[in-house]
Amino acid sequence: MRRGLVVGNWKMHGSKASVAELVTGLKRLTSHADADLAVCPPYVFIPSVVDGLAATDITVGAQNVSDQAEGAFTGEVSAGMLAEFGCRYVIVGHSERRTLFADSDKLVAAKFVAAQQVGLTPILCVGESLAQREAGETLTLVEEQLLAVIDSAGIQALSKAVVAYEPIWAIGTGKTASPEQAQQVHAHIRQVVAKASSTVAAGLQILYGGSVKADNAAELFANQDIDGALVGGASLQIEDFAAIYNAAG
Ligand code: PGA
Repeated sequence: MRRGLVVGNWKMHGSKASVAELVTGLKRLTSHADADLAVCPPYVFIPSVVDGLAATDITVGAQNVSDQAEGAFTGEVSAGMLAEFGCRYVIVGHSERRTLFADSDKLVAAKFVAAQQVGLTPILCVGESLAQREAGETLTLVEEQLLAVIDSAGIQALSKAVVAYEPIWAIGTGKTASPEQAQQVHAHIRQVVAKASSTVAAGLQILYGGSVKADNAAELFANQDIDGALVGGASLQIEDFAAIYNAAG
């Protein structure tokens, strides 16, 4: 039985004051025996969030990482640094990185490998644009994004990773994929992995992301291949985030 997982992606939001408030709210949540909770703040807030949540079961991740271990790479942050500061997860391949910062499949795979080399668990995001969905390319595109990582990291690497299906047209738009649309893609992701290893496929946590809210989380999580959520906007409101986590537990 796979554990549930709900991850908050704070994106480039927050101030010292709002982050302190969120941490206070997170500390009050009751943890579920069968579902985990994690948050991914902007880099600069990571140390205070890790400290603030130290006495809880809530873990912390980053939203991006360099593919390089160290060196003259102005503005970058390495996986080793994230691990040293107490991160458990790192998001790689978020569509905002792919589209706004040109993170290619190859670079995403390299970031995935760099994260695992220091023991971080990568959360690999895959997902199609509206045009790609309308052209009927969703399943092949998601498969390509997944295979780019499997080809360079190997299938066993997915036993220490999380995959998040995030249709670009649903991110921050209020348009959620229907539970049927999401389940179809999640099942496909699991099948692609199963072709290489049925054991890895059976254990893989696949999250859905894209306008997950308190009122649509339960119907998404009711599907057999949807193991949790990667939550943007609603993760900044503690009541909404708590309700999504409760739906997963
Ligand atoms: P959203 O973002 O929940 O605000 O749609 C999800 C994400 O981008 O991870």
